[in-house]
Amino acid sequence: MLKCRELPGKGLSKNDGSPSFKTMPSGGTYVYRSLLWLFCLAAIAGQMPAVADEGESDAAGDSPRVLIYGASGRIGSKIVEEGLLRGYAVTGVTRDPARLADYGDRIEVVTSDILDRDATRELVSRFDTVVVSIGGTPGDPDPANYIAPRAAESLIEVLTPMGPDGPRLIFVGSVFTLIYADGKTPLELGRVADDNPNRAMFYGHQIALDAFRASDINWTVASPPNGLRLEGRTGKVRFGGDVLLRDPDGEPAQISREDYAFGIFEEIENPRYRQARFNVAR
Ligand SMILES: NC(=O)c1ccc[n+]([C@@H]2O[C@H](COP(=O)([O-])OP(=O)(O)OC[C@H]3O[C@@H](n4cnc5c(N)ncnc54)[C@H](OP(=O)(O)O)[C@@H]3O)[C@@H](O)[C@H]2O)c1
Repeated sequence: MLKCRELPGKGLSKNDGSPSFKTMPSGGTYVYRSLLWLFCLAAIAGQMPAVADEGESDAAGDSPRVLIYGASGRIGSKIVEEGLLRGYAVTGVTRDPARLADYGDRIEVVTSDILDRDATRELVSRFDTVVVSIGGTPGDPDPANYIAPRAAESLIEVLTPMGPDGPRLIFVGSVFTLIYADGKTPLELGRVADDNPNRAMFYGHQIALDAFRASDINWTVASPPNGLRLEGRTGKVRFGGDVLLRDPDGEPAQISREDYAFGIFEEIENPRYRQARFNVAR
């Protein structure tokens, strides 16, 4: 780094030891000194942005990282795209890497099963942010056997020793666990028939949410409001907590998968629902 005191000192001080202020400089010396100091200041000013640039480029090369379970899924794939759009280094988890082949080298692909505790522990401990968007058709009428509560159990077991400051978990939940009317969820209001083929899925999500609420991990559950029937990414979303968001006409609010993914990253970047659940709608 250029230092001003190392600049040529001609005329700045006398070599005979006498204080320089005793020697009145000539007009030419004034001009020389002024130019010298201007040069000095310009040199310093010129170096400061260079230092700042260096810091910025370091930060830019150091993209935030996110681990996404369910990267091959309908919702998870939109979460991957939103992460890439925002400049994240995305690691997608799948049980079958062929399902993520289309991403090429745009993401890192890891083959793992969320129910494998040892593999999940090793994987999540390498990330600050973990998004879990897993699902599937319930094959068993018992909600406890649906993938959501089983994954929640695995994650809680793995993350509990890491405590509330451990990796931040954003878990994709269900609309059926939101408060719908009279302070109750559709499940509590008996809105899901016993023969509904997705009954185990809906109740399974409630088991998962209850398990997170009883845990001490760094969790957030993100519920879509009422299905994901809209299309496209608008980036215009609103947030609510446990109560289902509604439109001005009172109807349950809607969202697209793209905007839902947008909302998840808004929460990642501006956390407001730590150890809580939110829903996000257009
Ligand atoms: N309105 C709502 O409330 C609403 C609407 C839709 C969905 N959802 C919820 O959102 C979640 C995702 O739904 P989706 O439609 O995107 O699901 P999807 O398209 O069926 O994808 C399911 C994903 O889960 C992954 N997965 C399943 N079991 C896994 C395991 N043991 N280990 C690791 N990954 C596993 C699959 O990954 P691989 O096969 O690649 O391994 C796949 O990417 C579900 O929980 C669903 O209930 C809620």
